[in-house]
Amino acid sequence: MTSTMNAPPAAPPRRARRPWIVPLMLVVTAFLAFSVPPYLTFDPANSRLEPPAGNDLYYPLLVAHVLFGTVAMSTACFQIWPAFRARHRRGHRITGRIYVFAGALPAGVLGLYIGWHTAAGPSVRVANLVGSALWLIVTLVGLRMARQRRYNDYRRWMSRSFALTMSIALSRVINIPATIVLTPQVDTTFGGSEELMTYSAASIGVWLSPLLLLLLTDWLLERRKPAVNRG
Ligand code: HEM
Repeated sequence: MTSTMNAPPAAPPRRARRPWIVPLMLVVTAFLAFSVPPYLTFDPANSRLEPPAGNDLYYPLLVAHVLFGTVAMSTACFQIWPAFRARHRRGHRITGRIYVFAGALPAGVLGLYIGWHTAAGPSVRVANLVGSALWLIVTLVGLRMARQRRYNDYRRWMSRSFALTMSIALSRVINIPATIVLTPQVDTTFGGSEELMTYSAASIGVWLSPLLLLLLTDWLLERRKPAVNRG
């Protein structure tokens, strides 16, 4: 699929040491500060998503997803921070394991369950299942590449995993203009149902955000390849 080199991760080139990590951490902090607190009360009445009637598993699994997702988002920032990687090799390995085993993998597995039980209709359901499955697959492939010491491939797959981790924040942002654009169509396109309009706006966010971030990631990865490899 991509080039393979049996060399450990090298120190980042000067070009890579840019202060994008600060805005990234601010975005992550803002997203977590806004999204997570209602779930720390462990009270279903504070949930932004209504648990399906008669399903006692949904709410605890949603809370677990949010907590593992928080671990994934926080540790992902350290994983892709070139200076942290270069200066704290051991720290990078430890946060990497936390990211995979206490973050992306459990949050992704739980995403499959809560995604299936979404109240937001079939389009959101399929997007949730596809997003969760992709998150699991790219993370597992990245883990396998690391175990095989195929570090170039490992970096590529973990970059895709990172993109999917961040896609949740972008989907919430896309939701805002989608809602603004669709609101005037409640009485026409959505036959008077505000609920249907909300589901459609959510669907646009959950489909577009992973797609855009995966495309952006692969474009950035291609750009960073040595010119000779680009053909
Ligand atoms: C690709 C990665 C992710 C996938 C596929 C995913 C999947 C899901 C699904 C299926 C739901 C239920 C939505 C519904 O019923 O329609 C959900 C809810 C939620 N997820 Fe994730 N998730 C991901 C990453 C994350 C991360 C990294 C966090 C960080 C904390 C997170 C936090 C939440 C929160 C807070 C909710 C509840 C909804 C809300 O209050 O806005 N998720 N997620």
